[in-house]
Amino acid sequence: MDSAPTNTSADGPVTAVIVVAAGSGQRLGYGMPKAKVPLGGDSILTHALRGVAAAGIAQQICVAIPPGDTELHALCEAFTKELKAERRSTPAAGQGVQLPVVTIVDGGATRAASVRAALAALLPATEAVLVHDAARALTPEAVFHRVSQALAAGAVAVIPVMPVVDTVKTVEPTTGDGAAIAPELVTGTAARETLRAVQTPQGFELGTLRRAHETAASLDAGQAAAVTDDAMLVELLGVPVHAVRGASQSLKITTPLDLIIAEGLLEGPLGVRWVEG
Ligand code: C5P
Repeated sequence: MDSAPTNTSADGPVTAVIVVAAGSGQRLGYGMPKAKVPLGGDSILTHALRGVAAAGIAQQICVAIPPGDTELHALCEAFTKELKAERRSTPAAGQGVQLPVVTIVDGGATRAASVRAALAALLPATEAVLVHDAARALTPEAVFHRVSQALAAGAVAVIPVMPVVDTVKTVEPTTGDGAAIAPELVTGTAARETLRAVQTPQGFELGTLRRAHETAASLDAGQAAAVTDDAMLVELLGVPVHAVRGASQSLKITTPLDLIIAEGLLEGPLGVRWVEG
């Protein structure tokens, strides 16, 4: 069983969790930033922030939201109040444990730019950082613990992953006469047993992630668009990236079907953040 770290730096590196919530969420079709979309009576962002706080690993939670979004700003402030109120109602549970500082920053035009904005706002004492998608609102605490325990054990970079259940193929657009038959042609089949689907939170030694993002800032627009996670940038530095077990509930809420699944998880008999096997 995973042990539950607390917010005390004596247990490991001083840790910040960056929650990126500045995406437009167009694929969800709600006409509003995804972080604001209702899920089980609260917003996707509120669920994500509660998950981070419940994990108890962060001295700071730094949230990147769309610039000028007063509603998301208010949701972050309400969450801070909720943390303080919980502490007042159960003072014994909080003995010797500091409440995380909640910082709100303006996100950027890309996910990587949002992460960079948050990196610039971390407290000076920060040693380790976890970067988490707000869209993975129901990530179990156990996943945060696995990532932060790997960092405490000496990993410089660590990501949560899941085995891939589908066979995965590479394709290219069909050209010439073939275009009348089907839009794409298969070019190969990846070896499924070596494939992993990657989730967040992704954990890093702070200096390494900062270096990786400094390098990324000089990429051209095409290269920057191809950067879909932070570990990719760290891999480019030649730093080993370790992998721990993720969880099915960490699905990234992207499409209307994902939202239906997330609602089902919230209402289901197993509880919000149950842990498989
Ligand atoms: O677009 P995608 O689903 O990959 O976004 C993953 C996460 O990154 C989401 O939580 C989203 O809010 C965040 N994001 C961001 N700033 C952007 C684009 C995405 O914080 N410019």
